[in-house]
Amino acid sequence: MKAYLPKLPILLKPFLLSLFISLAVLAVLSLQTPRRTQKPTTTTTHPDDLRIRTGYSSYDAYIQRQLNKTLNPKLRKIWTTRDWARKVRVFARFFEDLKQRGLLSNGSKSLCIGARVGQEVAALKQIGVSDSVGMDLVPYPPLVIKGDFHSQPFENETFDFEFSNVFDHALYPRKFVGEIERTLRPGGICVLHVLISKRADKYSANDLFSVGPLVKLFERSEMVEVRTVDGFGLDTEVVFRKKDPRL
Ligand SMILES: *[C@@H]1O[C@H](CO)[C@@H](O)[C@H](O)[C@H]1NC(C)=O
Ligand SMILES: *[C@@H]1O[C@H](CO)[C@@H](O)[C@H](O)[C@H]1NC(C)=O
Ligand SMILES: *[C@@H]1O[C@H](CO)[C@@H](O)[C@H](O)[C@H]1NC(C)=O
Repeated sequence: MKAYLPKLPILLKPFLLSLFISLAVLAVLSLQTPRRTQKPTTTTTHPDDLRIRTGYSSYDAYIQRQLNKTLNPKLRKIWTTRDWARKVRVFARFFEDLKQRGLLSNGSKSLCIGARVGQEVAALKQIGVSDSVGMDLVPYPPLVIKGDFHSQPFENETFDFEFSNVFDHALYPRKFVGEIERTLRPGGICVLHVLISKRADKYSANDLFSVGPLVKLFERSEMVEVRTVDGFGLDTEVVFRKKDPRL
């Protein structure tokens, strides 16, 4: 080997030397360039993962459509009688689970969005979360007060906990989420039950195909959990925590 190098053609030696130097410089540079950190993402988002259903001539037409189901006397009767105990029981189990995971406590001031007759509010109260109220287009006193989720009738930073299983009814998902983030206190928790694997009913105003669009919409929050649930036709529970800018 020793005898090999001197026997190289005269031009090859400087060439090898410069090659060696270049490689060394490149190696040093690559060590100094900060590594691009990949943000840990659990989801991929396609622009089409949230589709707004078209066909409403006006906001009023949309509200009328929503009211049509909420006001249906036959449905209301079923909700408050035959359905009541079973739904309260299932909601209570969901909320107990959240308590056990430290996301809800007896002291949490809570709002249920799109609560209709307030089974979820009754469930919260039953498990000891006494400062709870529901909100829907049609009030159902004393559990549910009147309000539009696109423009909540509450001051900024009112609630510690908000729950909703009507995201698919939002014609303006950005407003729906913006209002939740506005009325949640810093560090407050929002739990959504959504449908991802199938199409929702004819009263839905949007279709969601992954949790990606939700993560984007919750600009002032971080997603803390996603899990599969069996929630009255909805299949996914997504939990967000509003960021505390003081931290
Ligand atoms: C709902 O709409 C149907 C027609 O689609 C109508 O016959 C019915 O009266 C409406 N119900 C309410 C409560 O507005
Ligand atoms: C919360 O309230 C429930 C029902 O009133 C009660 O059983 C439970 O002990 C309370 N939990 C705490 C931590 O106070
Ligand atoms: C309430 O919050 C919104 C945005 O989250 C902000 O634009 C508005 O100024 C706040 N209002 C008050 C009274 O602080």
